[in-house]
Amino acid sequence: MTDQTITSVSREKRVFGPSAEFQRQANLGSMAAYKRLYRESVNSPEKFWDRQAKDLLVWRKPYTDVLKWKAPHAKWFGGGTLNVAENCIDRHLGTERENKAALIFEGEPGDVRTITYRQLYFEVSRLANVFTDLGVGKGDRVAIYMPMVPEAVFAMLACARVGAIHTVVFGGFSAESLKDRIIDCGAKLVITADGGWRRGKVFPLKPTVDEAVAKAKCVEHVLVHQRCGNEVPMRAKRDIWWHEATAEVANTHKAKAFTSEHPLFILYTSGSTGKPKGVLHTSAGYLLGSKLSSKYVFDLKENDRYFCTADIGWITGHSYVVYGLLSNGATVFMYEGAPNQPGPDRFWDMIDRHGVTIFYTAPTAIRAFMKWGDEHVKKHSLKSLRLLGSVGEPINPEAWMWYHKNIGKKKCPIVDTWWQTETGSIMITPLPGVTECKPGSATFPFFGVQPKVVDDLGHEVPLGSAGKLIIAQPWPSMLRTLWGDDKRFKETYFSDFPGIYFTGDGARRDEDGYFWIVGRIDDVLNISGHRLGTAEVESALVAHPKVAEAAAVGRPDDLKGQSLVVFVTVKSGIEVSDELKAELRNHVGKEIGAIAKPDEVRFAAALPKTRSGKIMRRILKQIAAGQLVKGDTTTLEDFSVVAALQAED
Ligand code: WT7
Repeated sequence: MTDQTITSVSREKRVFGPSAEFQRQANLGSMAAYKRLYRESVNSPEKFWDRQAKDLLVWRKPYTDVLKWKAPHAKWFGGGTLNVAENCIDRHLGTERENKAALIFEGEPGDVRTITYRQLYFEVSRLANVFTDLGVGKGDRVAIYMPMVPEAVFAMLACARVGAIHTVVFGGFSAESLKDRIIDCGAKLVITADGGWRRGKVFPLKPTVDEAVAKAKCVEHVLVHQRCGNEVPMRAKRDIWWHEATAEVANTHKAKAFTSEHPLFILYTSGSTGKPKGVLHTSAGYLLGSKLSSKYVFDLKENDRYFCTADIGWITGHSYVVYGLLSNGATVFMYEGAPNQPGPDRFWDMIDRHGVTIFYTAPTAIRAFMKWGDEHVKKHSLKSLRLLGSVGEPINPEAWMWYHKNIGKKKCPIVDTWWQTETGSIMITPLPGVTECKPGSATFPFFGVQPKVVDDLGHEVPLGSAGKLIIAQPWPSMLRTLWGDDKRFKETYFSDFPGIYFTGDGARRDEDGYFWIVGRIDDVLNISGHRLGTAEVESALVAHPKVAEAAAVGRPDDLKGQSLVVFVTVKSGIEVSDELKAELRNHVGKEIGAIAKPDEVRFAAALPKTRSGKIMRRILKQIAAGQLVKGDTTTLEDFSVVAALQAED
């Protein structure tokens, strides 16, 4: 985001409250009720969470403690046992939900499948039995590299059922990235598909898995779901067809109970240094956080049809496609492919055909819809919609207003939900039946969340001033550690303010107490709502034989929020050319994945550095944005470097 948009965001004065009609039917319908519950949740967190845990979760063995907090390590619901998959499936059986749709799936080619809770039980049970036959059980790691198809959800739930720890890797990541993640967590099973449909074509996945697994000795088996029927080589003994393996096993399975803090999943996310971090979430607290927030933030009702456009490879897909929704017994609509296939109205067409009532997407998608033109929206009624959501980056007021008017027809509340992979569930958000929203503000904290905007010493800054966003108290769905690296966990999140969680985001509260998220203040970019570490891109670039040095920065972008610009110096004797630019873009794509391909590659004779040799990213950011270099340059080693870079514009 540019400074200009940030200012325009925080000057936004329009306020949009829920209609009386929405408010009347809402799960929480008054500010007074929110305030009362919120106050209790932060003043007596153990009492609040004890009640929620008893109301919302099915326990095998009751817990004895609500919280044990020895910063930075939290233990929630100690002494208790439960099964997360049982909470998402079995608990709905034998109720009127048994034959309710858990998932409605539409593939990109138009194929539709409805899976009831009862069918979900059979599918997940079969897979859990296959896991047991393969010797995959409690504590084992399973990597899931799948298209957005119901089998991806079955795979996650089957892991939870047997106590295996899943790590879902987004299908757009490269073989190299997949391999790194498999090795880091020591996965013994990889679940994939032959391919998925994307923009009218088969996007093959199995060959990427083969490439990754060739270098990952820990993998014993690869289980392959047949989605597209494209030809895939199968390696004897190691590779197994999903449909063959599941055909031979029972379709019932008794889930075992695991302790509250039993690891549920690892999800890798980018940080400001080094390799991606394996964020670890555990069972009871995570499930409770995602369930409670789904119920109130999305105002879930028995007849809702909920559509979240996120891929399950991201935390949004984990919490708000799978765990939070299925534990509430909701009907989740799931779509496999691109938003503009066959035309730019695909989402609106599906919303009408399937009667979607709640729609959750990202600002970058909203800006793309705006660009594609209102006429595509107008072809459809969208009359089933009653609630809209946004996640992934700050939403600019223009996009908020467009969403409100064109998709929400001025009657649907919009929940702008701020949270992170690490937080597990929504942290700052409007409640749709309660909050008077200001476009661009995530508004107020959810239950149990105590965000504060502080200066470098940890003192709260006055209303209106920007500072660092911290969360003062532990909450049930918080990450527990980084897989295999507790030291990095402490350093990354709990060392700026000892013992207190630092989000990495900057924020400001306005005079009415509303939270406005400014964005990352570390070396992490937010490109189309996806997190990317500059260090990762740089290390991919310097791994190329022709590259001497590289620096990656973000540039404000109308569509993606930020785009990726890299400055590269080449080794002596290497000719720079447009071909080399293309080669480097593809190289990064191959090292990390298509989402990390630089939007622009710029060659430089030298990079601006401090006298101690640190690359001055701030200056490169200004150059990338086409601005004149401002601010303190006294530590700069050689100003002619900047002059040369600017002269190239
Ligand atoms: C970062 C977390 C958790 C959902 C998807 C992204 C930014 C996320 C918002 C929002 C302003 C937001 C923050 C945060 N972010 N939602 N509503 N308003 N900023 O998950 O990859 O872990 O990224 O996304 O900068 O730190 P993630």
